[in-house]
Amino acid sequence: MSNGSPQHERQLTIAMGAFILGVSRDEYQAAHSLCESQHHLMTAVTHDLKSPLNAILGLSGMLRDQLTGKCTLTEDESRDILESIDMINSAGLGMLRLIADILTMARIEAGKEPIDPVETSDLGGMLQHIAKTFRLEAGSHKIDFSLRVTEPLPTVYWDTHKIQFHVINNVVANALKFTPNGGRVELRAGIDDDGVIIAIADSGPGIAVEERDRIFERYARLDVKSERVYQGSGLGLYNAQLIVRQHGGRITIGEGLDGCGTTFYIGLPIRAEARSSQ
Ligand SMILES: Nc1ncnc2c1ncn2[C@@H]1O[C@H](COP(=O)(O)OP(=O)(O)OP(=O)(O)O)[C@@H](O)[C@H]1O
Ligand SMILES: [Mg+2]
Repeated sequence: MSNGSPQHERQLTIAMGAFILGVSRDEYQAAHSLCESQHHLMTAVTHDLKSPLNAILGLSGMLRDQLTGKCTLTEDESRDILESIDMINSAGLGMLRLIADILTMARIEAGKEPIDPVETSDLGGMLQHIAKTFRLEAGSHKIDFSLRVTEPLPTVYWDTHKIQFHVINNVVANALKFTPNGGRVELRAGIDDDGVIIAIADSGPGIAVEERDRIFERYARLDVKSERVYQGSGLGLYNAQLIVRQHGGRITIGEGLDGCGTTFYIGLPIRAEARSSQ
């Protein structure tokens, strides 16, 4: 009954592996998935941590050379040094974020990161806080960034920390990252029959319909043409989707602003249903 599909081949490998090792298919599959996760982890560590680490080492070495034996600096030299310090800082933050994302992913996948829903009455305040955090970055790219909450939002029972930091922040950061300078990003919130909908709309390059499932895969990054250099490991949406699913919600994608771009809709029930993430 061989149909040669990747799924079928995988099943066959699992069955043979389990037979050879004398364990059940479930046991073999669990071990196999762990190896795959470890392989992804190694890839992330070797590739994605290498470039920020090179920047940290290279720039800090350069700074040391520039400062050695100098008591006074010209204005140009001071500016160069400040620029290098900013780059070191951003490379360090990039590494920290990547490590946090990898650890979050590993914990959720291992079932060791259950959500912890708490009563949150000031959802509007949380969104205002998020908007404030990103306003500076939007401004530095001349992106018009606005928050629109059109109706009173209910009290929700979510793991608000994870929803804010791993879900909304990532989707807003993506919108700002991929929208060209001078574009628009809107953060909106409202309610529907299933609960609360948070939408993040941008006027960026858009995501082709056939790519919309793929971007939620681990380490998936599309080849986005951009005038800006952007960083990322492709873990943000993967983790965001796991967390939204744990709440019993879903993320969907639609058309964006100004006839282009993307809108991400994060739909969450008012009371998190605390399910397994898979
Ligand atoms: N608003 C958007 N417009 C266009 N493409 C997007 C947008 N959001 C996500 N993508 C595409 O989906 C990919 C996956 O997004 P994801 O947030 O998972 O990863 P990342 O932002 O590249 O890295 P990370 O979030 O781990 O720092 C992105 O690399 C990009 O190709
Ligand atoms: Mg991202």
